[in-house]
Amino acid sequence: MKERTLSIIKPDGVSRNLIGEVIRRIEGQDLKITAMKMILLSKEQAKGFYAVHKGKPFYESVTNFMSSGPCVVMTLEGEDAIKKYRKLMGATNYKDAEEGTIRREFATDIEKNIVHGSDSKETADFEIGYFFNNLEMMDR
Ligand code: CMP
Repeated sequence: MKERTLSIIKPDGVSRNLIGEVIRRIEGQDLKITAMKMILLSKEQAKGFYAVHKGKPFYESVTNFMSSGPCVVMTLEGEDAIKKYRKLMGATNYKDAEEGTIRREFATDIEKNIVHGSDSKETADFEIGYFFNNLEMMDR
């Protein structure tokens, strides 16, 4: 089924010049980038994005990290885009991620894990709407 997902190249990925590397892998999986921008989140905006994690021990830290430098946010579209992109990223904790995945190859800890991807259709709808409106999304 054709679906959309949200991808973020996090501040560690941007500062380490991994934007091209991540995009190369995305396009290599036949996922189409249908919207893209670079943004610097405020702490409040990062908190809103990760509201589902409010109260968890890593909430303060991850929202500080996500507002520490620019991110690249993208919408990806394709067959099983959510699952496909999650497979490309690997597990949240890079130590558990499969060989060859983005996080296994580039993450340096559980927080600085280079990329984010939506984990379900419902999450994708919320996350895409958080960053993009319909006019900013291409039909590809
Ligand atoms: P992400 O997939 O963007 O979802 C929540 C983020 O919080 C996660 O990637 C990590 O960057 C960060 N994080 C830090 N510690 C944890 C943890 N113990 N479990 C899940 N996410 C964590």
